Amino acid sequence: VEIEIGPRKLRIFVSFLTLATVAVSLNLFWFRPGGWSEGLSLSCPISIAAGAIVSVILGWLFLRLAFPQRPPLTKSAGRPPIGLDEYRLAGLGSLPSDADGRDLYLDLMKRTVTNIVYQDLPSLFFDGEGPVRLAGGFSLPRRVMGEDQPADAHTMVGLRRLENLQHCIEQALSSNVPGDLIETGAFRGGASMFMRAVLKAHGVTERKVFVCDTFLEAVAPRPHWILMPLLQALASVPSRRWRRKLFMMGQWLVGSAKAFPDSAEPSEDWVEFVVASVRHPSMIPKCGGTGLNEVKSAFARYGLLDEQVVFLQGFFADTLPDAPIDRLAVIRLDGDTYESTRDGISLLYPKLSEGGFCVVDDYGAFSECRRAIDEYRQAHKIEDEIIAIDKMGVYWRKS
Ligand SMILES: C[S@@+](CC[C@H](N)C(=O)[O-])C[C@H]1O[C@@H](n2cnc3c(N)ncnc32)[C@H](O)[C@@H]1O
Repeated sequence: VEIEIGPRKLRIFVSFLTLATVAVSLNLFWFRPGGWSEGLSLSCPISIAAGAIVSVILGWLFLRLAFPQRPPLTKSAGRPPIGLDEYRLAGLGSLPSDADGRDLYLDLMKRTVTNIVYQDLPSLFFDGEGPVRLAGGFSLPRRVMGEDQPADAHTMVGLRRLENLQHCIEQALSSNVPGDLIETGAFRGGASMFMRAVLKAHGVTERKVFVCDTFLEAVAPRPHWILMPLLQALASVPSRRWRRKLFMMGQWLVGSAKAFPDSAEPSEDWVEFVVASVRHPSMIPKCGGTGLNEVKSAFARYGLLDEQVVFLQGFFADTLPDAPIDRLAVIRLDGDTYESTRDGISLLYPKLSEGGFCVVDDYGAFSECRRAIDEYRQAHKIEDEIIAIDKMGVYWRKS
């Protein structure tokens, strides 16, 4: 499914060789004392300026050659349409004949928020095993496991984690666990919408769904013709120490306009994840954040925007302490980083009712998320068994 545009190392090597040859030739024949530039009787400053301009043009050419901009992916890019067997293998090909209206509605919701129905293109994918890679086409297994960053789907958590969410909510409802539902880290809102849909399907009117995020809209870096190749070049330096520095520098440069709080000690896997996304900057608008109005409008498009949905915009550390939350039945933590997971769990877990569920989306994906959870569980002597949902998500039930 990955698209490889030719042998990348060879491309870099050839463009570097070209650049070096031109630079050496210039020095030999033009700029050296007694070279061609002297024959043209150029003054020293003009000669230096000419050298500088030529170097900039060559540098720019080098970047463009080594890191060509990909044309926007189209639906037909990548692999051919998925065969029917894949749906059958994933258990998606046909619905059970005894499914009732509620099952059918929730099943369709899950297929819609993950966009398994229309199959948008993923931008990047990340399965927790290799680096983040550019995906070339829709992959059903990846969408089921929540391993890609969809271009358009309303959630990136995948089908398995939605099934788990439904299980947790329905368990909490059937055993009368008191409290509302919350997701910290909503992105385009798909998983939160699904939480609201489960309440709707069960005719629950007294519980709320809290939807928390900075809701910061991503913008494409501009001017992209110079910044993008430069970013790609910086993010491609094959040194983990450098990439860490780049991450910290980027964090400092972005200042307050950021979707995540500052990471004090980012884990290597998180740094690699973020920097790898920068290597594909044309994807940023597609996999970056979503504004509050856009998320609200998506809720409305599903007919799920009502007074039972409460949006909390801002960093969790700022919004959660004063949120009108009394008890919680299901907590879904999906803030990726150490700080976000720590803030989410420490501010919400004390409100989780006995028998309630705590779901952690990124426990298997990012070691810093795992560290925040393990530290909290250790400090509060939580021994409830952690159950894996898929390669990334986990949950436990509060005893
Ligand atoms: C992985 S995405 C969430 C995916 C989402 N649950 C879904 O269904 O696709 C993480 C989101 O958490 C938000 N986020 C992370 N840390 C945050 C924090 N401390 N405060 C507010 N939002 C945060 C980011 O803005 C981002 O939208």
